[in-house]
Amino acid sequence: MKSLIIYFSNYKNNTEKIAKVFAEKINADLINLKGSGEIKIEDYDLIGFGSGVYKEDLAPQLYKWVEKMNLKDKKVFVFSTSGVGFTYYNKKLIRILKSKGASCKGSFACKGSFVSREFSDKKIFEFMSKFAEGHPNYRDYRKAEKFIDKVVQ
Ligand SMILES: Cc1cc2nc3c(=O)[nH]c(=O)nc-3n(C[C@H](O)[C@H](O)[C@H](O)COP(=O)(O)O)c2cc1C
Repeated sequence: MKSLIIYFSNYKNNTEKIAKVFAEKINADLINLKGSGEIKIEDYDLIGFGSGVYKEDLAPQLYKWVEKMNLKDKKVFVFSTSGVGFTYYNKKLIRILKSKGASCKGSFACKGSFVSREFSDKKIFEFMSKFAEGHPNYRDYRKAEKFIDKVVQ
C-alpha cells in the first residue's frame, strides 16, 4: 500500500513530529503544506491529513487543499495536535473527506505544547498549557505507532 501524509504544522512542529512517527512506521511520503507546490495523490492508496489546532479548528490551508482533491475511494485518516488533545477537532475534516467519497480508517489526536501568552490572554489557555507541556512525548509517540498499525491492518 502506497501512503502519503499531508500536514500543516507551523507553530512548534508538534504535528510534524507525529506525522514523522506515522511516516517511519508505514514508509509514507510526507508533504508539509508550509512549503508545497503541487500535490499529486493519484498514486497513493492511503492518505493521512494532519494539522495543529488553531482557534478551534484545523488549518484553513489543509481544507483548501482537500477541496481541490479527488478522493473517491481513497483510504484516509486524520490526525491533530492541540492544547486539549481531543479527536473532536478532526470531525469536520472527516465529514468533508467522506462527502468526497473517501473511506476514513481512523482519527488520532494528542496534546501539543504551547505558550498561551503567544496567542491569547485568556486564563483558560494558560491553565491548559500546563497539561500540554512536554507533548507530544514518548507516550504520544507509542500511541501514534499503535494507531497507525491499526490503520494499515
Ligand atoms: C494561534 C493559536 C491558536 C490555538 N488555538 C487552540 C485551540 O483553540 N484549542 C486548542 O486546544 N489548542 C490551541 N492551540 C494550541 C495548538 O493547537 C498546539 O500547540 C498544537 O500542537 C500546534 O501544532 P503545531 O506545532 O503542529 O503547529 C493554539 C495555538 C496557536 C498558536
